[in-house]
Amino acid sequence: MVVGQIDAEDRPTYPLKTQFDEDHNLIRSLLEKLYKSAEENEDYAVLLECFRSFEECILKHFDMEESEIKKLEWNDDVAAHIEGHKASHDSLRNALIYTSDQFDKKRSSKEIPNVIVLLPQTYFDELESWDIEMEKLLCGHNEAKCTD
Ligand SMILES: [Fe+2]
Ligand SMILES: [Fe+2]
Repeated sequence: MVVGQIDAEDRPTYPLKTQFDEDHNLIRSLLEKLYKSAEENEDYAVLLECFRSFEECILKHFDMEESEIKKLEWNDDVAAHIEGHKASHDSLRNALIYTSDQFDKKRSSKEIPNVIVLLPQTYFDELESWDIEMEKLLCGHNEAKCTD
């Protein structure tokens, strides 16, 4: 196991775990496709399509996570988590809006926005650490479904 990461099998389970795991796998593969298309200098239309697929999927996922954590019984830990987790989602939402604007501005020149710089891996590392904390809270919310 890599230090700082938790193996998927070691993570606790909760009602929407399967859905969230599937979303995370899809988001990861769409991001890899986006980065790969940028590295291989694919043209504007290809990059834009990859970006839109990624954007649509991750925005839907953020909304679903936020609505799920808001169902948790309120306490200081949950309140602090919601605030931090949502702020992390909002950083990426803002980066997506900015990147989308860049695509719009460059539509006529077909110049390609630098998606690897605009949507760096560091965002996703931070998002993952919030999700790990969220999983623990969701698991505590429904102990009957916990594996540990
Ligand atoms: Fe999240
Ligand atoms: Fe997530």
